[in-house]
Amino acid sequence: MKSEAEQFEKIPVTFHETSAEACQILAVEVGSLIRQRQAAGKHAVLGLATGSTPVPFYRELIKMHREEGLSFNNVITFNLDEYYGLDQQHRESYFRFMQEQLFEHIDIPEANINIPPGTVSRKEVYQACLDYERRIDAHGGIDIQILGIGRTGHIGFNEPGSTQESPTRMITLDKITREDAARDFLGIKNVPRFAITMGVGTILRAKRIVLMAWGENKAQIVRKAVEEPSTDAISASYLQSHPNAQFLLDRGATSGLTRECQPWLVGSNEWTDSLTRRAVTWLAGKQNKPILKLVDDDYNEHGMADLLTDQGPSYELNIRIFNELQHTISGWPGGKPDAEDGGRPEHAEPYPKHSLVLCPEPGDELLAMGGTINRLIEQGHRVDIGFLTSGNLGVDDESVERFAEVISDLVSAEAVSATAWEETTRFAEQLLLELKEKGPFGDDTETLRTLKSMVRRSEARHALRTCGVANDQVHFLDLPFYENSRYRRFHPSSDDADQLCQLMTKVKPHQIYMTGSASDPSSVSGVCYRLFRDALRASAKYEWPEQCRIWIYRSQEKPLESHEISMAVPMSPDQVKAKIHALAHYNNELTETGVESDFAIARVYDDLGLAEYEAIETFEAFGDFRT
Ligand code: F6R
Repeated sequence: MKSEAEQFEKIPVTFHETSAEACQILAVEVGSLIRQRQAAGKHAVLGLATGSTPVPFYRELIKMHREEGLSFNNVITFNLDEYYGLDQQHRESYFRFMQEQLFEHIDIPEANINIPPGTVSRKEVYQACLDYERRIDAHGGIDIQILGIGRTGHIGFNEPGSTQESPTRMITLDKITREDAARDFLGIKNVPRFAITMGVGTILRAKRIVLMAWGENKAQIVRKAVEEPSTDAISASYLQSHPNAQFLLDRGATSGLTRECQPWLVGSNEWTDSLTRRAVTWLAGKQNKPILKLVDDDYNEHGMADLLTDQGPSYELNIRIFNELQHTISGWPGGKPDAEDGGRPEHAEPYPKHSLVLCPEPGDELLAMGGTINRLIEQGHRVDIGFLTSGNLGVDDESVERFAEVISDLVSAEAVSATAWEETTRFAEQLLLELKEKGPFGDDTETLRTLKSMVRRSEARHALRTCGVANDQVHFLDLPFYENSRYRRFHPSSDDADQLCQLMTKVKPHQIYMTGSASDPSSVSGVCYRLFRDALRASAKYEWPEQCRIWIYRSQEKPLESHEISMAVPMSPDQVKAKIHALAHYNNELTETGVESDFAIARVYDDLGLAEYEAIETFEAFGDFRT
């Protein structure tokens, strides 16, 4: 008989606290398949994926090879996909990715590796795809197929519209998929438009399929694939029809499933404070009513009769939750001096406070809390901003070009003396040459990367100045894990955490704002969040943490939901305008969408029957920082 959760979930889901744990378990399964086949003198056929999701799984396999002597001699691999038009040695080709992330660290024979060909001519594509399918069949099919899931719900590169029977073929990449790859390719215009991918039909022929997903950014698409009817709009939902498919998730990626969001619908509950708040706000949304208008019948009809027995009647429960939410609203994010503390999110004392806003990349601070920074400063607090990374990977070549051209133009317009500027002009020419030599896909030279950091620094300083943050309060840590690497290839070390710890110890904050708690662990914010936890643990020996409160802010993709919010800082229309103005100093795509989630949460509060604000920035209180 199906469990209650399974009545919503159309694909078996296994969930682990962290992706590391999940990957260990999967690696053990794959390792034992390989060994069994070795013992029987047979091959094991693995279907492999690229992207950031499988990286920790590949690390586990490498570890098993090194520490347990697991041999890959009898393993045959088929990769899901390859960008069309990239030669194998291109730094973003999936061929190279697989070499770097797995193959060059294990003993797999080169002849056993199969990756769709990215460089065959258009005329040869059809035949090459047919050959790929035949080769899979000739090896008896795939034993275990590993998958990630894209934001469009794609598996492989089977974008929306792919049919259930689709074979290996060439596909046009969706706009969202190209946007997601833009950072790897240092700009969307460099991302290939086409790819060769195994089809949904090819994938579904595998004997076993494990789709992995990490972090809250995947939570919504995972929910759709697992719980909604199967549709060609989300190719991962086709896995519902497979007899041996499984979703392997971490906490963040599970957070959209009914078992997590509405656990009262899938079994009996312990009505903790946080679950009660979640249930009541959900019910109000579902019934399209403000909280104070919910009646007993609303609760009874939605599986919450036991909540009423526990904490009812409804009008009392409604008032309690309404008041709790009301108390999250505060125009005093640093605490209101000389006021009664009881119902406010932040303590009045000490006043003024030292607030430290930590940001994985420049831009995060304004997106999440431009209005709050402004208020803190206007209310007399000192705000320091700590940028953990330089963000130079997000700066496009054009910014360097513009800089170099302005210098050259100054000299040719005779606005400055050519002799005095001789060296500078040579430097500008050198920059233009380096840009040309590396081309759109090449790695930035050290000079280019440094210059891009400087561009981002200057944007950050200007943006923050409009919020009242002086230059000496802006700290650029340029953590080494980022400077020495590229997206998806980060290897943080204790040096990174030490530098962060030093900044925190120098500022001795009374409040820290940070993000990344539920991000994909391989993303910049996921890495930074882990470093932050390490730095906090290392700081426990000092006195300052005793008085320090930590507030977590979220990314635009997965804003806090009303039941998660501990502090909601409202913004007036003028404050929203000021935030948009500040965001415009960053030369990237942030500005357009920068305040959408602030508007959205203000609408949610309004719909719940709370005050109607133009926009709201939100924060979650962090648990015990020593854990
Ligand atoms: C990769 C692939 C894609 C990725 C998906 C998720 O070979 O076929 O379907 O699995 O785009 O990418 P990441 O893991 O980078 O989030």
